[in-house]
Amino acid sequence: MIGSVVALPGDGVGPEVIDEAERLLAVIAPELRVERYPFGGAAIDEVGDPLPPESLAAARAADAVLLGAVGGPRWEGGARRPEEGLIGIRSELGVYANLRPARYGKVDLLIVRELLGGLYYGESGVRPDGTVYDTLEYHPDEVKRVARRAFELARGRRGRLLSVDKANVISTSRMWRKVVTEVGLDYPDVELTHALADSTAMRIVTHPETFDTLVMENTFGDILSDVAAGVAGGLGIAASASLGDNGPAVYEPVHGSAPDIAGQGIANPAAMLRSVAMMLRYSFANTVLADRVDEAVDAALLAAPTPDLGGSHSTTDVTDHVLATLRTPHLEEVL
Ligand code: NAD
Ligand code: IPM
Ligand code: MN
Repeated sequence: MIGSVVALPGDGVGPEVIDEAERLLAVIAPELRVERYPFGGAAIDEVGDPLPPESLAAARAADAVLLGAVGGPRWEGGARRPEEGLIGIRSELGVYANLRPARYGKVDLLIVRELLGGLYYGESGVRPDGTVYDTLEYHPDEVKRVARRAFELARGRRGRLLSVDKANVISTSRMWRKVVTEVGLDYPDVELTHALADSTAMRIVTHPETFDTLVMENTFGDILSDVAAGVAGGLGIAASASLGDNGPAVYEPVHGSAPDIAGQGIANPAAMLRSVAMMLRYSFANTVLADRVDEAVDAALLAAPTPDLGGSHSTTDVTDHVLATLRTPHLEEVL
């Protein structure tokens, strides 16, 4: 597999799990060039900017971007926030569809989170009276493109798409529902339903196995993907892919910089390693190798669980186990 990957380690456990991603890639895709660039709080410390121009330029020129995590108490109250880097690179690379799968036992759902609009990117400010506001804005075209992507993904899965909104209260949600329904006319083979975000959150907790593919606004997707991660084994194992229409995609764990466990060598690298599998699948079209990595990670989580899963294994133990599984005679067949 030929190509170049930009790794943005970031902060907290970010660099710890990026180390593991690099260790995996060095074995399964040794000709892939992986280069690290400063990002997040670490980049604020180095050059005063969470998304330095050199890091962005390198990311743009790469085939794919692997991202660790950003943020932490160290940068709270500062002039620049590490999270700005994340919000910035997503919009610069145009990655509007954030795929957040949750698999565990009978649970196999996929949240498609709209990533470039809604509450995160709407107008915000402070009124003269001191009122602070963030606005939830969408152009119908932004809804259309993510809906289309979600229908395509649902078609490749079990053919069911649930669009999640708050159409009982929010006017953007009513437009969202109308646009998703219209896009659905092009996908008669996909069964489309709509549901409200609050009761959907509850149903993800009580009946997670009843979901297939879900599509929703940015903030709803942020929250519900952590809920889904919670029912499917926790944030330590939840991966994501952020895709646009062209240009490099971004692959990152759903979790953050986990300041409470950073520096102890106990972060679960599975979310990052599964994000690498998503990169192999979506950016390098190597489904066979992606499946092998996913299977090896599943096996490693049973054999070498980290503390978040009730075990006592270390970050590197998990990757060691993944590599041991992959170093079988079959590996040559898929490289
Ligand atoms: P978090 O996801 O960092 O941590 C939540 C909990 O999950 C913590 O108890 C943590 O120890 C645990 N956890 C997370 N990843 C783990 C892993 N790989 N292995 C084992 N346990 C893991 O969320 P938070 O504490 O709310 O936020 C901390 C910082 O991370 C904040 O600054 C936030 O802005 C940032 N953040 C960044 C991203 C990102 O870079 N994509 C995502 C979410 C939060
Ligand atoms: C995530 C994170 C980010 C988000 C933050 C850190 C900007 O929580 O990737 O889920 O809200 O999108
Ligand atoms: Mn989040």
